Amino acid sequence: VTAGEAAPLDPVRWRDGALRLIDQRRLPGELAYLECRTVDAVAEAIRNLAVRGAPAIGVAAAYGVLLGAETAARAGKDPMPAAREAARVLAATRPTAVNLFAGLARMEAALDAGSARGLLDHLRREADRLLEEDLLTGRRIAEHGLGVLPAGEPLRVLTHCNAGGLATGGWGTALAPLYAAHRSGRRLEVFANETRPLWQGARLTAWELSRAGIPVTVLVDGAASLLLARGRVDVVIVGADRVARNGDTANKIGTLGVALAARHAGVPFYVAAPLSTFDPRAPDGASIPIEERAEAEVLGSQAPPGVRAWNPAFDVTPAGLIRGWITEVGVLRPPFPLPGTGTTPAPDPVD
Ligand code: MRU
Repeated sequence: VTAGEAAPLDPVRWRDGALRLIDQRRLPGELAYLECRTVDAVAEAIRNLAVRGAPAIGVAAAYGVLLGAETAARAGKDPMPAAREAARVLAATRPTAVNLFAGLARMEAALDAGSARGLLDHLRREADRLLEEDLLTGRRIAEHGLGVLPAGEPLRVLTHCNAGGLATGGWGTALAPLYAAHRSGRRLEVFANETRPLWQGARLTAWELSRAGIPVTVLVDGAASLLLARGRVDVVIVGADRVARNGDTANKIGTLGVALAARHAGVPFYVAAPLSTFDPRAPDGASIPIEERAEAEVLGSQAPPGVRAWNPAFDVTPAGLIRGWITEVGVLRPPFPLPGTGTTPAPDPVD
């Protein structure tokens, strides 16, 4: 993968004065784009998962702040307070993925550093930079991830949820090394847990991998432990929504079960995530807020009327179950090179 190579997908882009998103609710049936022209439209798109995946949410929110400033300026109002209010609204959309807050913090820092003159250009540059950084990060994660893939043909990989191009600026995290391996001619067999209740694995991971020509087999979430126990997986790679300082990692509900089954089967379990997913303020998994979503997402029309559902969107895998964290600066183990933790990220130039 080279720096100039186009990403497989363009889920979050600024086009013609609006935030253009791939509407992930409509996949795999239709590759349709959603245009957001207001802060509320961006907030709603994040809440209802039209845009989803930790890095993609962070980039979308950054452009949402820009939209807030632009809307105010067009109405002859002060864009500065409007941008700050946009950040407040967007911060309340989803609680777990720390990239959302990291993206908003970057925009707020740009606001602090900016003046009313040229503010819109300044915010636009910062949001564009976030997207560019994400694309570069995806390519670096791909390269570092290649180094941990076990030998063997075909390489059999299990993943959960969608940590692919759709969930980021376009390259993905957990799927980025798989795209790179595929491009280098390696034969792959990817198992995608369907990921109840919103089917990110069956709908999104299966769609983007098969679109890229990578063979993918979908299984019900409950079948992953049997697949692992039967020795049919060489490596597990998942994404993350927030990694605590000690390495405890929040990711889509069901990830913890996969990690436990992988440990039992002796299969290496890796997390792939940009450093923006690491939260220096979370000492461990207990301090990561877990989103609970609507009961209706679980009950659908299957359960009898009157029963309740519990619908946590994420779980936390203890650091001890994770072999390594594939990041843009290499495959890490705690302590991570994060601001405020006494270590600094090592430079890692990409061609
Ligand atoms: O609820 P979602 O679909 O936003 O959850 C997404 C995940 O759990 C992903 O695995 C995670 O955000 C990593 S995306 C590179």
